[in-house]
Parts: sequence; structure tokens; C-alpha cells
Amino acid sequence: MCWQPMAAGDSHRVLHRPALFSVICLSLPFLKPFCEQITGNYVEPFAGSACLFFDMEPEGAILGDLNRELMCAMRAIRRDVYRVLECLRRLPRGKAAYYRIRAMKPDELSEPEIAARFLYLNRYCFNGLYRTNLAGGFNVPYGPPKKSSPHPEVDEDLIVSASRLLRRALLVNGDFEETLRHVEPGDFVYLDPPYATDEARVFREYVPGSFSTHDLARLSDALSRLDQIGAEFLISYCDSAEAEALLRKWNPVRIPTRRNIAGFVGHRRIAHELIATNSRKVVANAK
Ligand SMILES: C[S@@+](CC[C@H](N)C(=O)[O-])C[C@H]1O[C@@H](n2cnc3c(N)ncnc32)[C@H](O)[C@@H]1O
Repeated sequence: MCWQPMAAGDSHRVLHRPALFSVICLSLPFLKPFCEQITGNYVEPFAGSACLFFDMEPEGAILGDLNRELMCAMRAIRRDVYRVLECLRRLPRGKAAYYRIRAMKPDELSEPEIAARFLYLNRYCFNGLYRTNLAGGFNVPYGPPKKSSPHPEVDEDLIVSASRLLRRALLVNGDFEETLRHVEPGDFVYLDPPYATDEARVFREYVPGSFSTHDLARLSDALSRLDQIGAEFLISYCDSAEAEALLRKWNPVRIPTRRNIAGFVGHRRIAHELIATNSRKVVANAK
């Protein structure tokens, strides 16, 4: 190990805004120092809730994800956020309504309606989890935010400011390799793939066709290509034999993290992640 990331603090203190979608990335305090001096585009090919993007507010970005509804929601929020909010206000609250809205078919909805439904389900589902059945239907049970939650049920100001930030981004709905085709020298790429490992039961059931251990070789080639073209990357992965093999040549460091997107609260625990980078600046500063 030849470099040390900064110590983790309370991520809520470090985060200056809550994420648009209710996924809290507890590794953010470790990750932020890497992208504080970005000169090129910020690129995230496994974007999910893109917490780091929303927190860092880079001038230019490329966000990609395989999840069609997520990317459609981002597009609609970017294009016409007030129309999305109008649709969101019309959706009734409560358990029975939640299951009716969950059962709607996105293919039969307009883009703003898809975005409103996505935001609604993310806010009122159990633990802000995203999981689908094999046919791609969202299947997380009802679990509204606690009355004691410090965040409003639907934070319209946050959604409006997310819309402004998304206008700085190219949005790609597709596999990570498709997003990485847009990378240019000087760009900064943050990769946070689903944690595919044969070692343990780690949550990774995002969308059908989601990243698996069969994709590790493609990911490894992609990291080498990024390095060759002169882009900087940072990657996080669960601490596992797969990650050690994947990240061996990129200065991996083990950091603690708390998994908060697990099934039940009692199953949440401190786990470890490996983060790795090709940034010569970071490695040189630590020597
Ligand atoms: C660990 S999450 C990313 C979390 C993200 N860093 C955040 O701030 O929320 C992994 C994401 O990868 C997406 N994904 C899965 N397989 C993919 C693939 N082959 N190409 C691109 N995205 C993929 C999932 O839909 C999911 O949103």
C-alpha cells in the first residue's frame, strides 16, 4: 500500500447536499479528495444515484447507467423539471397507492410520468433500495420515510437544483463500455460497479443483465484503456478476491464502509471496500 486516503468522517457533514435519489454513499469522504481538481469532464459509467457528481457539481460530465428508467428520469428532470414535479404532486400517498403506482408499466407512461414514478418509488420504498424481478419490474415493498427523518418526503428544491446540474451532463443509457467511449484525455472517471463476487451474498440485483463476474475482464481492459489515453480513474469495489485481482496494478487501498442498502436494518454492518486509482498525483503525494 503506497498511499492513504483521508480519514472517513460523518458523511452527512462532508456531503453538502443530500443525493437526488435516496441512496447514501458512505464512502464519499474518501472519494471526494480525488476529484477536487478536475479539469476535464467528470465521467461516471455506473451512475446510479450519482451522489459524487451531485456533491462535486463539476462543470462538465458524462453519466451512464444500464437502468433505462433511471436514465429516463434524469433526462426528464433535466428537460422539464416543473412538469415532473406536477406529475409527482398528483401521485397519491399511502400503502395501497404505492402498490398501484408500482404496478404501472413504464412503457405506457410519458417521460415526465416515468420520472415522477421513479422519484416516488425511490422515496416510499423500503430503504431506498432498487431491485427488479427477472422481467425488469420494480419489486421493492412499501417502506415510507420515518416521521423523524430530517429530510422532507419530497424535496422539490433539491430536484430543481438537480435539474440545473444535469444540464451540464451528457446522459448515456447503456453498458459502461458505451459511456467510456466518450472519455477524452484529462477526464476523470469514477467507476462504482455492482459488486460482483462469488465469495458472499452482496447486494447486486439492480437490473436484468446487470454487471456480473463475467464482466470483470471487460472492466479490467477498460481500466487499462483509460490509463493509456491519459484519463484519470478511481474505482471502488467490495473487498474480495475478484477485486484484488482486478485492482492489483492500480495501487489498491482498503477502506471501511457501512453497507446501508441491505435487506434489514439489523443486517447492516461495517464492511470493507477496495479503492484504486491510476492518479500519479495521489500516489506521488503519499510517498
Ligand atoms: C453500485 S451502483 C452505483 C452507485 C453510484 N455510485 C451512486 O452514487 O449511487 C451500480 C450501478 O451500476 C448499474 N449497472 C449495472 N450493470 C451495468 C452495466 N453493465 N453498465 C452500466 N451500468 C450498470 C446499476 O444499474 C447501478 O445503478
